[in-house]
Amino acid sequence: MSGRFYITTPIYYINAEPHLGHAYTTIVADAIARSRRRSGEDVFFLTGTDEHGQKVERAARAAGMDPVAFADRTSQKFRDLFARLDISNDDFIRTTEPRHVAAAQEIWRRVRDRGFLYKASYEGWYCTVDELFVPETQLVDGKCPTCGNAVEWLAEESYFFKLSEFQDKLLALYDQQPDFITPDIRRNEIAAFVSGGLRDLSVSRTSFKWGIPVPDDPKHVMYVWFDALTNYLTAAGFPGDGARLARYWPADVHLMGKEIVRQHAVYWPAFLMAADLELPRRVIGHGWWLMNEAKMSKSLGNVVRPDDYTARFGVDAFRYYVLREMTLGQDANFSDETFLTRYNADLANDLGNVVSRVATMIERYCGGIVPARAAGAETAVDAELRAASEQTIQQVTRDTGRLDFSTALRGVWDLIARVNKYVVVREPWALAKAPDKRALLEATLYNAADALSIVGELIEPAMPQTAKKIRALFGAPERAWQALGPGGLPSGQAIGTIDQLFPRIELTVDELRATANASGDRHDRSTDVSEQQPPTPPAAPAAAAPAAPAAAPADNRITIDDFMKIDLRVAKVLAAEKVPNSRKLMKLSIDVGTEQRTLVAGIAEAYEAEQLVGKTVGVVFNLKPAKLMGIESNGMILAASPEGGKPVLVAFDGEIPPGSRIR
Ligand code: MSP
Repeated sequence: MSGRFYITTPIYYINAEPHLGHAYTTIVADAIARSRRRSGEDVFFLTGTDEHGQKVERAARAAGMDPVAFADRTSQKFRDLFARLDISNDDFIRTTEPRHVAAAQEIWRRVRDRGFLYKASYEGWYCTVDELFVPETQLVDGKCPTCGNAVEWLAEESYFFKLSEFQDKLLALYDQQPDFITPDIRRNEIAAFVSGGLRDLSVSRTSFKWGIPVPDDPKHVMYVWFDALTNYLTAAGFPGDGARLARYWPADVHLMGKEIVRQHAVYWPAFLMAADLELPRRVIGHGWWLMNEAKMSKSLGNVVRPDDYTARFGVDAFRYYVLREMTLGQDANFSDETFLTRYNADLANDLGNVVSRVATMIERYCGGIVPARAAGAETAVDAELRAASEQTIQQVTRDTGRLDFSTALRGVWDLIARVNKYVVVREPWALAKAPDKRALLEATLYNAADALSIVGELIEPAMPQTAKKIRALFGAPERAWQALGPGGLPSGQAIGTIDQLFPRIELTVDELRATANASGDRHDRSTDVSEQQPPTPPAAPAAAAPAAPAAAPADNRITIDDFMKIDLRVAKVLAAEKVPNSRKLMKLSIDVGTEQRTLVAGIAEAYEAEQLVGKTVGVVFNLKPAKLMGIESNGMILAASPEGGKPVLVAFDGEIPPGSRIR
């Protein structure tokens, strides 16, 4: 299939910092866009920020900023996060851009001139969080039924859009194009809502100014959803660029969370019908990420920040986790425990291990050159692996086409398990000892590398960096999925540098949280231990992508008074023992002059217990106690943490009694 493909994410409100939810939709859209590009389609992938409305005006005021400066700043945060997440969007739209103001005003004029707008006075309860009027009967304890926030009574003159005239047309649309809204549960909800009757929609406001002025009546600004939805047309060239519009409009997929399907599947097609413009082809509503079964929200303090995970596990691990863990359409729970398990089991053990094992054997037994494909007859195990590769390519192509990334990835991981089994059955290390088995050894390593190069291509939409690394390692060409098949890996080229793609992380979730806090990672999570003080020195970054070296911008400096709050003391280690089931942690008993204390330090990888006894060390004396692996730790040992290396204890230049203060 080739042609053009236009996919959008919602444009995100800029009154909040970007989080997992925003990242998720954008990663899914990115995976779709990447898979379409691989099939040779001319893809246009749009994301951006929704910058007008009372909510933003108020957030800017609360931040003491003018809305324009506020919008610039927050919009940039979304843009930066998406760049860090390897999002391949072709455009990033901001609703404050002149091209968009012009487009929104043009669509307004068309809708008005075709008789679908009228002015009337409106009174009702309004939710500024969801930017919606809420009928009195739908209030829950006097609050918005969607978000639970307080509603306000608004009485003002407003333009109304004749939504009520579109009931039949919308129902016919859902009927004639059953996949206009997916999944089915969303289509049924929307069809039921529309069947219940549609009221005209208030589409302008006079009580605030931060919006797009209504043409010929600038006292009014447009209702944010009228303004926001139009972004999809703006970026496609509306109204001025006819050629571009003809190429990219209508959009193929509008992707979003389930809570805004109504605006996209009811209001948006109605606006477009009223303006006599073509309708998008599909509206897809995915589920929510929940934290401990509750939707993430700032007020609950359970917001997941992608950077916390990418810094430790790498961008691809984060992308893999969200795509594998959530079935599109259903809700999913985000948990540190499943994240770490998936990382270690799927990425470090399965994918990472087999890739580095096969590459290492090519290095060792074939002088680092990818061996030739077997010329002779294929044995049953070879045929099995080949069939598994072929079948996986087909299955992944089909599941990806259905936007079922979770199943597609499961299929790839089945193939990884097959490659592993193939290597175990063939025992290349044994073949290497028998000179008469040379041909079989080479065929084995070729077939394994070939299958892994297929794995590399198939994970590309989900894990673009890893795909690139696997390609570089085996010297595989980039191949379209249609051209992908066993035997496609060239022979005779030198393999690249062998790195662990996903180094195993031996820490427990609690230890990871403690080290994340100690190394200054941001974690505003209710389930987190951020209230505790870290009793261990920052451990060496355990993941593929080490945390960025801590910069010390001038405005981060502290005063001498701040420093004096930290009670640093000399202590002597009386006893030391490794904490069971932990690679990093060491339990220490120390003499701090006035008392004896127990503390837990993340230094077990660098020091043996016996080496520590009798050592003079520096400790942070006035840290609040914290529990690590069930042991209460009272204080923190000072150690340097070189990037990628093991901690080194701070030492003293001379004898010094325990309890002495350090300044
Ligand atoms: N500005 C509107 C959209 C206008 S589109 C013309 C808006 N913005 S938003 O910032 O609130 O973003 C909502 C979107 O963020 C959701 O539809 C979804 O794509 C994503 N998510 C926000 N929280 C989420 C979860 N907890 N889980 C999954 N995605 C969620 O609404």
